[in-house]
Amino acid sequence: MSLPMPDNNPFLNFPYGAIHMECEARDLIVEGEIPAGLSGTLYRAGPNPRFAPRGDYHFFGGDGMVHAFHIKDGKADYNNRWVRTAKWNIEDKEGRAVINAMNPFDCEPEYSDFVLTDKEGLANTATVWHGGRMLVMEEGHRPYEIDPVTLESIGSWDFRGKLQTAMTAHPKIDPDTGEMIFFAYMATGPFSADVMVHKVNAAGVLTESIHVPTPYSAMVHDFVVTENYIIIPIMPITGSLERAMEGGPPFAWEPEKGVHIGILPRNGGSSDDVRWVEMDVAFVFHFMNGFDRDGVITIDGCQFERVPLFPTADGETTGKAEPHLTRWTIDTNDPNAKVAFVRIDEHESEFPQCDPRRMGKTYRHGWYASCDGELKSTMVQNDNYYNTLGHFDHETGAVDRFSCGQSIVSEPIFVPASAEAAEGEGYLLAVATSFETRTSSLYIFNALELAAGPLAKVHLSHRIPAGFHGSWRPA
Ligand SMILES: [Fe+2]
Repeated sequence: MSLPMPDNNPFLNFPYGAIHMECEARDLIVEGEIPAGLSGTLYRAGPNPRFAPRGDYHFFGGDGMVHAFHIKDGKADYNNRWVRTAKWNIEDKEGRAVINAMNPFDCEPEYSDFVLTDKEGLANTATVWHGGRMLVMEEGHRPYEIDPVTLESIGSWDFRGKLQTAMTAHPKIDPDTGEMIFFAYMATGPFSADVMVHKVNAAGVLTESIHVPTPYSAMVHDFVVTENYIIIPIMPITGSLERAMEGGPPFAWEPEKGVHIGILPRNGGSSDDVRWVEMDVAFVFHFMNGFDRDGVITIDGCQFERVPLFPTADGETTGKAEPHLTRWTIDTNDPNAKVAFVRIDEHESEFPQCDPRRMGKTYRHGWYASCDGELKSTMVQNDNYYNTLGHFDHETGAVDRFSCGQSIVSEPIFVPASAEAAEGEGYLLAVATSFETRTSSLYIFNALELAAGPLAKVHLSHRIPAGFHGSWRPA
């Protein structure tokens, strides 16, 4: 008999709480019209605890579930599956949570070495289609391969033994060569002070791994790739095994450690070539894009003054934090360069995206999730739920917005209208969950006309728990 979910944690309750079913739904109800040329699958990944979790549940610690909208000829089908990780299989057999993935010291005695030795992780953060494989990522472990159509679990994927580290949930794919670049933090062991950068060619073969020692052991969520540089941001969410053994938080906000931005030459660079540039304390989970010209690197990201969702080293909350689109400039020609940054958009924003065909290059269009201030969150870290989508025009500074009202909305994913379409010409796809019906719908917009409202809403009769990231796989 499974135990009920605790009702005192916002991430175990609506709109984040788990659903406990896997299903297929064909020919979903469509309000409006799905564009005829839109053909492919939108994936969504998020934490969906199989059982009532152990200890203090952290949003990042739930078992991964993947949801997919398969779109063709103006119609949409849907399916969802848990990823059958080692943890999922053990707990499914045990009939209860026996492992706390976020705390190695909170597992049943029989599994006391599980968290520090597990290679499969939670598969709960993001998906990517690359080299003919559909991978589900969770940054602390290797990726997990699933079937792109049925979503059935295939197994942990280590690039035929070449990947000896984890894989970030935010790999970058070069739009010209198809090369995928990614990294792992704490690369050589639990809480080690280093990252490993990996390159995988378009065929899916891991071709190069570059070891980069870092100023301290940090959780690194996202990074930036430009035409000539790989940029590793070391921001002070520190990891400490000693602190965890003393009963403190394994990961904590320690602003006194400073922000250090590592710049690795993209082609032929080794760990000896990494240059570290300092920055005033701030925190970014997600970057929109970056590019370089004449040695000047420009990076856009949704920047917080301090991290939300993580405690201080003393276990206190860091308080309220709101991210805003912020532009960094690093002049590598200057031997005393520091990261200069300026807020470029006054709207709160998270989950930024660009047209993937402009990844690493100069670009004009970006999109993000935002809020209109009407829907108040129960989380101490935030006032508002993201219920709004925004398009930011870097050329004019103009912002085009659409509010989904009494709904929480996901990260939006841009899909080009065709391979030849101009930058930004295409569709924006996001999943919104209504606070009234408690069901989710896929919204499809003309990406450059958000305020005009969705071209189509594709309705589910159930809810996709508010999660992390999505991706698109063209048919
Ligand atoms: Fe992320």
